[in-house]
Amino acid sequence: MPEIQRLRLDHGPALLAFEEENRAFFAASIPDRGNAYFARFDARHAALLAEQAAGSHHFHVVVGDGGEVLGRVNLFDVAADSAELGYRIAEKAGRRGLATNVVGRICVMAADEYGLTALRAATTVDNAGSRAVLARTGFRPVGEILLSGRPGIRYLRHLNDAPDVPAGGAER
Ligand SMILES: CC(C)(COP(=O)(O)OP(=O)(O)OC[C@H]1O[C@@H](n2cnc3c(N)ncnc32)[C@H](O)[C@@H]1OP(=O)(O)O)[C@@H](O)C(=O)NCCC(=O)NCCS
Repeated sequence: MPEIQRLRLDHGPALLAFEEENRAFFAASIPDRGNAYFARFDARHAALLAEQAAGSHHFHVVVGDGGEVLGRVNLFDVAADSAELGYRIAEKAGRRGLATNVVGRICVMAADEYGLTALRAATTVDNAGSRAVLARTGFRPVGEILLSGRPGIRYLRHLNDAPDVPAGGAER
């Protein structure tokens, strides 16, 4: 089972490789990060770690057996006991239940390790994979939103409620 590790400075090279390898795959579903992200990766990585140290975010990488980054699952903009969830999984590790598994695990970590009581999320209507992940991990739609001009759905998960649907996993 891939491990969820809190983001550290030494994850930088593997994280950059993950973002480069999957750039086109991610850009088919969510906005591309842009060339500047890749050109100035190290500075941005360090800046985000400083924000994490200040308590604004909880970033994580999903690490495979060989130390390779297979995904990311992040809690952004921590405020008033809640945070915004974001995630992405490598194309080659996709459609095996990994996102469902790590989102389920991050909900437990958010409550038990970070003391949060709710997570927010959003995805575009046409992102069938992401919608499935959120539905399977207990997130409920709470409204509509435009995401980079595309119709989207906002979701909420109260962390003290058990999800109606068990978080499936990579064992399936
Ligand atoms: C969306 C994403 C996180 C799904 O990751 P994953 O590990 O493949 O998800 P899971 O394996 O847990 O899949 C959950 C369900 O969604 C389905 N699914 C996954 N990708 C899909 C796709 N592109 N189209 C349709 N269904 C998809 C899976 O097949 C599974 O359903 P099944 O069990 O009936 O087969 C991943 O494709 C990704 O990172 N995409 C780009 C970034 C992104 O969209 N992030 C989310 C932003 S809100």
